[in-house]
Amino acid sequence: MAMPAATASAKSLIKKLLFHSPSAPPPTISPLRFSSASTITKATYGSITSKSRSRSEPTKKQKQKADQLLKRRTRSEREIDEDDFSKLYGNDNSAHVPVMLGEVLDVFASISLKSFVDCTLGAAGHSVAMIKAHPEMEFYVGLDVDPVAHQIAQAQINNTLQIDSDHSTKKLRVHTHLKNFKNIQDVLREIDEDILNTGVHGILMDLGMSSMQVNNAERGFSVLCDGPLDMRMNPQANLKAEDILNFWPDTEVGRILRDYGEESNWFSLQKKIVNARLTGGLHSTRELVDLIRRSTSWTRGGRQGWIKTATRVFQGLRIAVNDELNTLKDSIHSSFDSLSSGGRLAVISFHSLEDRIVKQTFLDIVNCGDGEGGEGRLSNSTKFDSYKEKEIWIKQMVQGSNAVVLTKRPVTPSESEERLNPRSRSAKLRVIEKI
Ligand SMILES: C[S@@+](CC[C@H](N)C(=O)[O-])C[C@H]1O[C@@H](n2cnc3c(N)ncnc32)[C@H](O)[C@@H]1O
Repeated sequence: MAMPAATASAKSLIKKLLFHSPSAPPPTISPLRFSSASTITKATYGSITSKSRSRSEPTKKQKQKADQLLKRRTRSEREIDEDDFSKLYGNDNSAHVPVMLGEVLDVFASISLKSFVDCTLGAAGHSVAMIKAHPEMEFYVGLDVDPVAHQIAQAQINNTLQIDSDHSTKKLRVHTHLKNFKNIQDVLREIDEDILNTGVHGILMDLGMSSMQVNNAERGFSVLCDGPLDMRMNPQANLKAEDILNFWPDTEVGRILRDYGEESNWFSLQKKIVNARLTGGLHSTRELVDLIRRSTSWTRGGRQGWIKTATRVFQGLRIAVNDELNTLKDSIHSSFDSLSSGGRLAVISFHSLEDRIVKQTFLDIVNCGDGEGGEGRLSNSTKFDSYKEKEIWIKQMVQGSNAVVLTKRPVTPSESEERLNPRSRSAKLRVIEKI
C-alpha cells in the first residue's frame, strides 16, 4: 500500500535530519588535545560550517521540527499516576526521581535476571525497583564515582533488603563500588573471577547528573545557584571547570563551548572568558553566569535567553571535566562484552551528543558481528514477531548476528512523566541485547 504523502515527507525529514546515512557519518568529537595544528579560528570555522550547512546541515528550526516529530513517534505509552507520583516523591523537586522507571522495568521484565549491574547508582531509585522486581536476582553490582551517591544508594539498598525478606533469605550478593563505569570489567573480575565467563544478565546506565548533585551549590553544576566552578562527578578527580576556564588554551575553551556545549555564540564567549583572566579569572558559577548574561543579547531567545546559553556552557564544561563522551563509547563496548547471551544493556541519555554516541556504538556492535562494512538489518522477521508478542514496548529492531538493537528509535518519556518530572524531558532510552 502506498504511503500517504504527508507521512512519507515527515519520515524523510526525520531521517534526513536525525539519522545519519552511511554515506554521511555523524561528526565525531575527537579527544581534547592541546595542539596548535588543530587551531580553528572563528573565521575558518564559520566558512567550514556555512559551506557544509548550505549543502546538508539542518537549521535550528528544522532540527526542532524534526525533534517534535520524532518525539511523537517515540513517546512511551506508560502513563504515570499523579497521586502515586506525589506520594512517592513529593512535589518540591528535591528528591531524585528515577527517570523512565517503568520503561526500564519493562526492558528487563522478560529476563530471568540472576545478575544485574547498575553503572550509575545515584540514589538507587532504579536499583531498588529492579531488586524488588526480580526476586530471582543473586548477584548485584552498583557503581558510582560520587561518594555522596554511593553512600545514599548503599543505605537505600540495605533498607530494601531488610524489608524484603525474599532477598535476604535467598542471600542476594550485593556489591557497591565507588568506581567509574569504564572499569566495569575490572570490578566484575575483582568480585568474581567467573562472572565474566558466564556474563551478566542485565546492565543499566542512567547518564547525567542526579538531583543531589544539581541541588548542591557546592558541586558547581547549577546555573541558578552560586558555588565554586567545580563540576566534578568524582570529587577526587584533578580537573575542575575553573582550571579549564582560567588556564586552558583559548582554542580549547572555544572547542568545549562549540562541540560539547553546542553553543552558537561560542567564539564571543571564548574571547570574554579568556579576557577575564586579565582581571583574575573566573572562580564562581555566579561570575561565569554574569559573564554569559552580559554577552547574551535579548534578541537571542528573549529576556531569559541567557539561561539557555548558560545551560549549554555548563553542559560543555561538565562533559569536558568528566570526560563524559570518550568514557561513554568505551564503556558501552565493555558493558556489552560483559553481558551473557540473551543479556541486555539499557542506556538512558540526556542530550543529543550522548544519544548519538549510544545509537552509533550500538550500531557499530551490531555491524561488527556482521563483518567489516556490514550493516544491521531492520528486523521484520518471525523472530521480531515473537519479541513483539511478549514485549509490546519493542517497536522496531536492528538485527545483527551477535546482537540486536531492540530500539531502532529511542523510547522517550510519556507526557505525564515529562509534566511530573521536567528533568526527564530530554531522556532517551536505548537497549541492545546480546545474542
Ligand atoms: C542520573 S544519576 C543516576 C540516578 C539513578 N539511576 C537513580 O535512580 O537514582 C547519574 C549518576 O551517575 C554517576 N556517574 C556519572 N558518570 C559516571 C561514571 N563514568 N561512572 C560511574 N558513575 C557515574 C553520577 O555521579 C550520578 O550519581
